[in-house]
Amino acid sequence: MIEFGKIYNENCLETFGRLPDSFIDMTITSPPYDDLRDYNGYHFPVEEIAAGLFEKTKEGGVVIWVVGDRTYNGSESLSSFSHAFAFHEAGFRVHDTMIYAKNNPIPSDCGKRYRQAFEYMFCFSKGQPKTFNPLTIPIKQEKAFKSFRITKVGRNDLAHDHVAPKERKVNNIFFYNVGTSSSKDKIAFEHPAIFPEQLVEDQIRTWTNPGDTVYDPFMGSGTTAKVAGLLGREWFGSEISEEYVELAVRRLEGRKTGSAASNSG
Ligand SMILES: C[S@@+](CC[C@H](N)C(=O)[O-])C[C@H]1O[C@@H](n2cnc3c(N)ncnc32)[C@H](O)[C@@H]1O
Repeated sequence: MIEFGKIYNENCLETFGRLPDSFIDMTITSPPYDDLRDYNGYHFPVEEIAAGLFEKTKEGGVVIWVVGDRTYNGSESLSSFSHAFAFHEAGFRVHDTMIYAKNNPIPSDCGKRYRQAFEYMFCFSKGQPKTFNPLTIPIKQEKAFKSFRITKVGRNDLAHDHVAPKERKVNNIFFYNVGTSSSKDKIAFEHPAIFPEQLVEDQIRTWTNPGDTVYDPFMGSGTTAKVAGLLGREWFGSEISEEYVELAVRRLEGRKTGSAASNSG
């Protein structure tokens, strides 16, 4: 049986073997994809991982899969789309293709291309998502308005007035700072590719409720563990590198005396 609050130092495929079926409410992760060399060349069988996650995800659960493409000889690797097809093939719905846009992308020349400033945040769902707590922004308009429909003879007012909504859902392009402003934990930057903490917070709040189970199969520096814990979710993870598990554990120990991700509560 699985232990919550633990990062298993193993291949995520081995962790799947510990889990009962339909166990996870939400997975959020950024897979190694094109960076195999930076992670000591661990094999990355995306079809097997997608099938395993499908089996272990509850009906209505989601996987947030944050992925980009490497550029080889001036064109893109297409890892992102091949992963989306693999998850679809495994049985997931592609519920929403969201964008993680970077306020401060790494400066680079990019040849005959514009500067790369985003990654995909695929939301794969097992059936219809069971939880959706959308992020919202206030709307300024305050007047009540009448409902109407357009008929063959023109505009036809309906009987009732509506109170104007005070807020609306945000768009599906989320903007975050990357680099040193994406976490206050200096130690986290010993890992080469960490998540912005706010990204993880926004996604966990959207797709889960307190007490739900959150999993990260590629835990890296432990960002998912830190944020899920602060938000009162049960969490566990996998990380194949012993060095990164040690790093994540040190980071999590530090957070007991440090500050929370912003807006938590
Ligand atoms: C992009 S990083 C994740 C970073 C993480 N989101 C964070 O905020 O620190 C991907 C991680 O997956 C790990 N990894 C690669 N293959 C793995 C596998 N099969 N099972 C578990 N972890 C793996 C790598 O060691 C690396 O730390």
